[in-house]
Amino acid sequence: MNKNAIAAALTTLIFTALPALASAADANVNVQIVDALQKRYGAHPGYRANHAKGVVAEGSFTPAADASMLTRSPIYAGAAVPVTVRFSDASGLPDVHDAAPDANPHGLAIKLHLPNGTDSDIVVNSLKFFPVATPEDFRDLHLAAAASTPGTPKPTPLETFLKAHPSVAKAVGTLGTPASFADEEYYGIDAFVFTNKDGKKQAFRYVIAPAKVVHLPKEEAAKKPANYLFDELPQRLAKGPVTFHIKAQLAAPGDQTRDPTQPWPADRKIVDLGTLTITKTLADSDAQQKKLLFIPGRLTDGIEPSDDPLIPARDGAYAVSFGRRSATP
Ligand code: HEM
Repeated sequence: MNKNAIAAALTTLIFTALPALASAADANVNVQIVDALQKRYGAHPGYRANHAKGVVAEGSFTPAADASMLTRSPIYAGAAVPVTVRFSDASGLPDVHDAAPDANPHGLAIKLHLPNGTDSDIVVNSLKFFPVATPEDFRDLHLAAAASTPGTPKPTPLETFLKAHPSVAKAVGTLGTPASFADEEYYGIDAFVFTNKDGKKQAFRYVIAPAKVVHLPKEEAAKKPANYLFDELPQRLAKGPVTFHIKAQLAAPGDQTRDPTQPWPADRKIVDLGTLTITKTLADSDAQQKKLLFIPGRLTDGIEPSDDPLIPARDGAYAVSFGRRSATP
C-alpha cells in the first residue's frame, strides 16, 4: 500500500469509529481545512497540520465530589484516573519560536484513561473564544493567510478576510504569551452538554485553570530562547507536580451554544470539576506524540457535543491530519 492509501485507510477507520462524523460534504471541508493548513505552513511529514510542536506528559485527574451531580459520565464517578496530556504551540510549524505570534494560541490536549479501558479527550487552547464561527471560515482564514506574503499587493487576501470578520482580531486580542505552559489558562471554546443521572441536561464550556496565569511583557517575550516553554516544563516538573483545575462554565437558559466566537456573559457560574495533576514529561515524547490522536468528540455517556458546527469539523480534520502524519515515517 502506498502512503496515500495508508492515509486514506487510517482516516476511513477513524471516521467509521466516530459516529458523530457526518456527511460526505462535511468530510470534504475537513480535507480542505487540512490542505489549507498545509498550504499556509507547508507540509511537514510526520507532524500535525496544526499544533505541530508539542510535548507529552502524564499524571492523573481527580474528580470533584459535586461533579457527578452535573453528569453521569464515568470520568466523574469518584476515582482518580490516569491521564496523558500534550502541551503545544499553535501552527503547523514544528520549529516555531515558542513566543512567536504563530505559536499562539498555546494548546493543551488531555486524554483520560477510564477504568473500563476506553479513553475520553478534552482539547483546549488559550483563546477565550474563537476567531471564526464555521469550518468554512476556518479554511478560508488559512487560505487567505497562505495567499498573503510581504510582497502581496494591498489589500492582501488576509486583510480583506480580517475586515469582513472582525471576530478574528477580537479573539486574537485576548491572547498573551505565557511564561510557562503551566502558567496559562486554557479554554474549551466549543460548548458541550452534560446529562446527569436524572436525565437533566446542562450546556457548558471547559475552563482549565492553572494555579496562576503569568503572561510575559512583549519585550521580555522577544528575548526568550526559541524553546523556552519546552525547556522549562521538565525543569518545573522535576521540582514537583503541576496542577490545573478542570472547570465548567455553565450556560444559563437561552444562552446560545452554536457560535464559538461569542463568549457567554462573564457572570455565568463556573464550577470545579476536579484537579488535573501533571507529574512528568515522557522521555520518548517525540515517538509518543506521533501515535497519539486527541479529538474533542471522543466523549463518554453523560457528555455530548452541542450544536456548534466546529466540533464535528474538528473531529474530521484531526482524523485527516492524523491519517496523513501516520502515513509518513
Ligand atoms: C474549525 C475549527 C478547528 C479546526 C479545523 C482545527 C484543526 C486542527 C487540526 C487539523 C489539528 C491537528 C490534529 C492532529 O494531527 O492530531 C489540530 C490540533 C489541535 N487543535 Fe484544533 N482546530 C479547530 C479548532 C480548535 C479549537 C476551538 C481548539 C481549542 C478549544 C483547538 C485546539 C487544538 C489543539 C490543542 C490541538 C493539538 C492537539 C494535540 O495535541 O494532539 N482547535 N486542530
